[in-house]
Amino acid sequence: MKNKQLAIHQFGDTIDVATQVIESEIPKIGTDEVLVRNQYVGINALYDRELYRGNVPYINVVFPYVYGVEAVGEVIATGKNVSDLKIGDAVSTVKVGTAYQEYQSIPEKDAISIPEATPEYLTLNPTGVSAYLALKNVAELKPEDTIVVSAAAGGLGHIIVQLAKQKGCHVVGICGNEEKVALLNALNSCDRIINHREEDIDTVLSSEFNGKVNVGFDSVGRHMFDAFLKNLAPLGRLVVSGLATEINEGEFEKINAPRVYESIYWKGASVRCFMNHLYKDQHPEARNFLFDQYQKGNLQVKVDPMKFKGIEAIVDASKYLLAGRSCGKVVVAL
Ligand SMILES: NC(=O)c1ccc[n+]([C@@H]2O[C@H](COP(=O)([O-])OP(=O)(O)OC[C@H]3O[C@@H](n4cnc5c(N)ncnc54)[C@H](OP(=O)(O)O)[C@@H]3O)[C@@H](O)[C@H]2O)c1
Repeated sequence: MKNKQLAIHQFGDTIDVATQVIESEIPKIGTDEVLVRNQYVGINALYDRELYRGNVPYINVVFPYVYGVEAVGEVIATGKNVSDLKIGDAVSTVKVGTAYQEYQSIPEKDAISIPEATPEYLTLNPTGVSAYLALKNVAELKPEDTIVVSAAAGGLGHIIVQLAKQKGCHVVGICGNEEKVALLNALNSCDRIINHREEDIDTVLSSEFNGKVNVGFDSVGRHMFDAFLKNLAPLGRLVVSGLATEINEGEFEKINAPRVYESIYWKGASVRCFMNHLYKDQHPEARNFLFDQYQKGNLQVKVDPMKFKGIEAIVDASKYLLAGRSCGKVVVAL
């Protein structure tokens, strides 16, 4: 039996150039480790692309580098010091450089026990965790805030809008097609939905939310960032959680404009960035909250309906996400 893996074998601009499917031995487990057969893996195509372009500063990519962050699966072997997990248990794992393979060995303490290895638990940990931590620590979201969210029907965005509504906020969700509008409607969390292909974001925000955006939550950048920045309320927070448009082009757009403080100084507003791995100490709190909300039926998890199967399909799933076609979280079944 072999372990099929998707690995970065050289840096490159596209997944086809930078990665290839390889096979290796099934990993041996240490005394404190478990062997997990991955059943679903989560696709973070925008982050992955920065990784295989060699642009993620805190990751040392040594070729061949098996990548992928999150998986859910089944424990199929346990080391002799493993005390809580047993063969057959479902677990969730989150670590850069572990997911895009059929089997992984992992310390027991890092394999989070879950009721079932489903795409929904895969979405909650870590995408939901990111949503929770970004709203708490960076957005500092308060009840009655007006929050505007870009890519609102995406993996991250659809959890953000629900958590914001739970908090008692006025929620504006931005998305890019009718299918995404339908997803947002089904969540019952947005007071206003803007399809940016039908309505101009800058015009809508300037006419309906001028100076009223307490939190702009942006994963897109460029024109979206500009429109959010322009319409921030006094003490408003513009959270940068992703840069989809910038990293799409390969290099950051150069603009000729006053420095960012010109827009925010008199409002006492701020521009802040979110980075999940810097809040590791709060991951358990976030996971417990999200699992509880999901199990109580207070949180919907939307998984993209497109079916992808097998390690090879990670390439297609990534291209699908990068084309902006996905709706909810993109997952691959192994
Ligand atoms: N900082 C962190 O720690 C952290 C953690 C998790 C995720 N993120 C970031 O959060 C964002 C959302 O991630 P996700 O995995 O949940 O993806 P996603 O939102 O499911 O998919 C990306 C969406 O972004 C929009 N988009 C706009 N311009 C795009 C472009 N040039 N290329 C691709 N998509 C574009 C599209 O939505 P519309 O059609 O609706 O515009 C697209 O469907 C990403 O930028 C990701 O890197 C950051």
